[in-house]
Amino acid sequence: MNASTAGTTPTVAEDWWRNAVVYQIYPRSFADANGDGTGDLAGVASRLPHLASLGADALWISPFYPSPLADGGYDVADYRNVDPRFGTLADFTVLADETHRHGLKLIVDLVPNHSSDQHPWFREARAAEPGSAARDRYIFRDGTGPNGDEPPSDWQSHFGGSAWTRLPDGQWYLHLFAPEQPDFNWDNPDVRADFLTTLRFWSDLGVDGFRVDVAHGLVKDMSEPLRSQPNLDKLLPDDGSDPLYDRDGVHEIYAEWRQLFNEYTPARMAVAESWAPAARRPLYARADGLGQAFNFDLVNARWDSRQFRTIITTALEDAARCNASSTWVLSNHDIVRHASRFALPNETDLDAWLQSDGVFPQEDRAMGLSRARAATLLMLALPGSAYLYQGEELGLFEVADLDEAVLEDPIWTRTGHRLKGRDGCRVPLPWTEDGASFGFGAGGSWLPQPAWFGDLAASRQDGRKGSTLGLYRNAISLRRALQSAADVEWIDTPGALHFRRGQWESITNFDTTPIPVPAGTVLLGSNPAFKEQTDVIPPDTTLWLAIKPDAAGEG
Ligand code: GLC
Repeated sequence: MNASTAGTTPTVAEDWWRNAVVYQIYPRSFADANGDGTGDLAGVASRLPHLASLGADALWISPFYPSPLADGGYDVADYRNVDPRFGTLADFTVLADETHRHGLKLIVDLVPNHSSDQHPWFREARAAEPGSAARDRYIFRDGTGPNGDEPPSDWQSHFGGSAWTRLPDGQWYLHLFAPEQPDFNWDNPDVRADFLTTLRFWSDLGVDGFRVDVAHGLVKDMSEPLRSQPNLDKLLPDDGSDPLYDRDGVHEIYAEWRQLFNEYTPARMAVAESWAPAARRPLYARADGLGQAFNFDLVNARWDSRQFRTIITTALEDAARCNASSTWVLSNHDIVRHASRFALPNETDLDAWLQSDGVFPQEDRAMGLSRARAATLLMLALPGSAYLYQGEELGLFEVADLDEAVLEDPIWTRTGHRLKGRDGCRVPLPWTEDGASFGFGAGGSWLPQPAWFGDLAASRQDGRKGSTLGLYRNAISLRRALQSAADVEWIDTPGALHFRRGQWESITNFDTTPIPVPAGTVLLGSNPAFKEQTDVIPPDTTLWLAIKPDAAGEG
């Protein structure tokens, strides 16, 4: 089956997700209802009022399935169940119902590239003979070298080291991530059928959509001899010719999924976590595919108006090419929080900064928070879906000085302690300014929280003028009121990123000196120091303005 001619012509029937604000929950670290130090589904349910008052349209919950947590749950041992640490399927059903009762949609995370090595299929494969049907569900190969004791190819794991691990019987299996995450063989019909069952299982339980992990990785070129690809993190070619990523074959899989999604009313949505080159993002986002694809370009943007403008323009053009809507991400569970990124000089190597426990260079947190708030307001003024990461609404910074002894990200061990990894953005949330684990739960927290978390606790910001939480609430509610089909129309204002959508204008001062406030009525400012009676916008500040209909027409 070819993706472009797949069966009937599926269309995305309902598109609530096109301009949604989606809030990402990393369930280990969101809220802990049973006090065991790890967040859980009942904890998420208990905090739904927070999400409703924030004004989010949907939640996306990172994996909560049974898992040894070798990669924080992105190593799934059973795709159709809940890990006892996170609760039960009954808890999930309650959460789904309660989420909907709060007027929110629910997106779950699907991890199709690899399973846990504790998945029954991998245990079976490990025990089975080379060449057996059980091994064919994963990617096993004989080694190279005189005794087969060299890996089948030079492919490296994203988390460091070879992407191949050898079993005692001599065969090697592929894992593009940790050895505890063996890659599935998507040419195997059992694998394809089982994922359709999983998609149906969660769709039947009422989930509204899926975030598809490593969506560009499922299909590999395994033709012999295996091609050399020693640097998995290099920029991918834009013609689908990489042996491991972004191969055209993945779209046949998603065309089949789309048909399943469209059997539901409303159709289930999906968003691809694909690190494919921008030019190929529309393939994932088209209506007969997943429908939407993450754009991570803002994550790598420096505080530079030209970079922001180029990224935004390209993203909007790419989305328009496939009639999708764009997506925007400033933070998630894999990257240094944006309040910290913007607190550092533009040229900072974030890995080296983490390795120094956040000491070299020092963060300028006031600047970081100002810029983070300005970037968020800018992002929320754009058409498309904004994906927020838990804690950014509190203005949380990265916890860069976690003790080495508590680090759990496999990146830390796999790189021989060369890279600290992603734990610093996964520290459990502060809900209250004091109390056990700052209100995360009645017990401790699986990663230690720094003392300064109390200053940023939700309870401390609730109702407080100028708080980051208040800014997010106001911005999301205004965004809903101002949303229109109008395209982004750029206005060239020196030092700023300035655009109009219908009667709504957003202007961000990227300069180091104040710039004049343009004509219009100020609706919201990202900077609590901004005074409406002045006529200048301070540096690192975004303002939203309403302009009169006749002015809007002038372009
Ligand atoms: C995705 C997830 C990340 C995980 C990896 C392997 O990139 O976002 O957290 O480690 O996939 O599943």
